[in-house]
Amino acid sequence: MEIRPTTDQDLDVFVDTLHAAFGRFPETPTEGGGVWWSALEMDRGLLALTADGRPVGTAGAYAFELTLPGEILVPAAGVTAVGVLPSHRRQGVLSAMMRHQLTELRAEGEFLSVLLASEALIYRRFGYGPATYTQRLTVPRHQAALALPRARGRADTPATGSDTGTIELLRRAECGEILEEVYDRYRRAQPGALSRPHRWWALGAGQPPVASAPRYVAIHRDADGVPDGYASYSTGEPSTLTVDETIAADDAVFTALARFVLGHDLVTQVVFKHFPPEHPLRWQFADFRAGQVSGDTDWLWVRLLDVPRALTARGWFMDGDSSSSTSTTRSWASTAATC
Ligand SMILES: CC(C)(COP(=O)(O)OP(=O)(O)OC[C@H]1O[C@@H](n2cnc3c(N)ncnc32)[C@H](O)[C@@H]1OP(=O)(O)O)[C@@H](O)C(=O)NCCC(=O)NCCS
Repeated sequence: MEIRPTTDQDLDVFVDTLHAAFGRFPETPTEGGGVWWSALEMDRGLLALTADGRPVGTAGAYAFELTLPGEILVPAAGVTAVGVLPSHRRQGVLSAMMRHQLTELRAEGEFLSVLLASEALIYRRFGYGPATYTQRLTVPRHQAALALPRARGRADTPATGSDTGTIELLRRAECGEILEEVYDRYRRAQPGALSRPHRWWALGAGQPPVASAPRYVAIHRDADGVPDGYASYSTGEPSTLTVDETIAADDAVFTALARFVLGHDLVTQVVFKHFPPEHPLRWQFADFRAGQVSGDTDWLWVRLLDVPRALTARGWFMDGDSSSSTSTTRSWASTAATC
């Protein structure tokens, strides 16, 4: 078996092999919207070929920035498009590609690689471990009333009473560059978040709302009218409103957006596909059993390629020394970034 790097000329065979590994057929590009694979960086791809030259495996990598604690931005290779044909599995094809890729990434000077794992048992053997987590949160609308969080004093103030912002409802196609700008500001401050290359947004290549699939988007603006959060959603059967992604500058903005979608008439439940486990929303419901967590799972996996560089690159949430007894309660956060 041969592992070789790809070029732009390999795109069709790469995409075809990858889809066959997942048992799917490539979607047809729609007008005004790119397919996700149009964002692949073919100069960083790998193809595994049999001795007679047939492609049987694929792997790729994106050039990302990852935010570390202390709002430190570092480069990270985003491993993607990993697949081996069903006919050639459990014969070491993935192992050979991973060995090749890790060697290449180190040679290119990368010190971190990251990925989202389709299954939890695949990547640990290659040195990856889960670093952030995500949840799926379902809220029946009849239980969705918010109460004042205990920390706030007045019982007559809604949970988002401190929020002085406004919410505007747009269609995805009307959002222009607002989503990209809001996401970029968010991810720079959020440990564990990945950059989203501009060309993803330009091509509409990714999951909604990066993809330009029809969606409603609630845009939150601060008191000065600057967009600082959004929730992208759609409604479907059976009477479910599904939120693809909620991006918010802080917890109060998140709660304001949640309040907006939870107030939607004619739906019986609201599903947050990617809910950050550390967000206090669940405890802000009057009925604190309202939020039902499922899909409580790993999100971003990280592999340290250069341990000293990786560990010295990170910052801290606050100044201090090892003798200090002060600690911060802020946790590593999951994000809804998609690679
Ligand atoms: C996951 C996948 C890439 C593995 O490829 P592969 O060529 O069969 O993997 P290898 O033969 O190199 O396996 C290496 C080891 O990992 C184990 N392994 C591989 N895939 C596994 C899985 N899905 N679950 C558990 N163990 C797995 C193998 O049993 C083997 O273990 P061993 O070293 O103890 O014998 C392939 O099954 C696939 O394409 N699956 C569908 C697409 C997919 O899920 N891609 C990953 C996207 S994140």
